[in-house]
Amino acid sequence: MQRLKLIHHAPGAPGLRFLGLGPYFLPIQGLTKLQKLLEKHAFWATGRNYKNLRKLLAKSTIVITLWRGKRLIGFGRATSDGVYRAVLWDIVVAGDLQGQGLGRKVVEALLSSPSIKEVERIYLMTTNSDEFYKQLGFKNCNHQKLLIRSKS
Ligand SMILES: CC(C)(COP(=O)(O)OP(=O)(O)OC[C@H]1O[C@@H](n2cnc3c(N)ncnc32)[C@H](O)[C@@H]1OP(=O)(O)O)[C@@H](O)C(=O)NCCC(=O)NCCS
Repeated sequence: MQRLKLIHHAPGAPGLRFLGLGPYFLPIQGLTKLQKLLEKHAFWATGRNYKNLRKLLAKSTIVITLWRGKRLIGFGRATSDGVYRAVLWDIVVAGDLQGQGLGRKVVEALLSSPSIKEVERIYLMTTNSDEFYKQLGFKNCNHQKLLIRSKS
């Protein structure tokens, strides 16, 4: 079995964004693989094109990718001010590999990043994975409301 490789990208993930770099800085169409991973396994992130994925990466403080050989099998990102507030976004593991501890690895890697680990509050939004996040220290928030202003 091929080894797992977890990558903490530089802020904005320039190598992944511009060159599609994966493990060992090899150009292996990382952006195409990210688009496919999201398309297939992240119901809220379908239809994202390369141009907008590049923008998304550029504005992310922390970007984590998880690989098995040349296959991109996990992804997660966060935005953070480094002190007070951070938000986790787009946490996903390939469907056939879920339930094996990989999602936990991705979230733990995000939470241990220097730009998030001292942050006062870390937020996330989830439709049906709340039990997964509770195992990682997140709690229901009953005293606040989630408000959304959508473009369409
Ligand atoms: C949610 C997701 C990232 C979790 O990743 P995963 O690799 O399947 O989860 P893990 O195997 O690391 O699970 C870690 C722990 O959480 C538990 N867990 C995972 N998903 C769970 C769920 N939906 N409900 C309850 N517990 C869950 C596991 O049993 C495991 O517990 P253990 O450590 O006691 O064995 C993954 O299932 C996924 O990509 N789902 C589709 C995309 C998605 O919905 N992402 C969340 C967006 S907010």
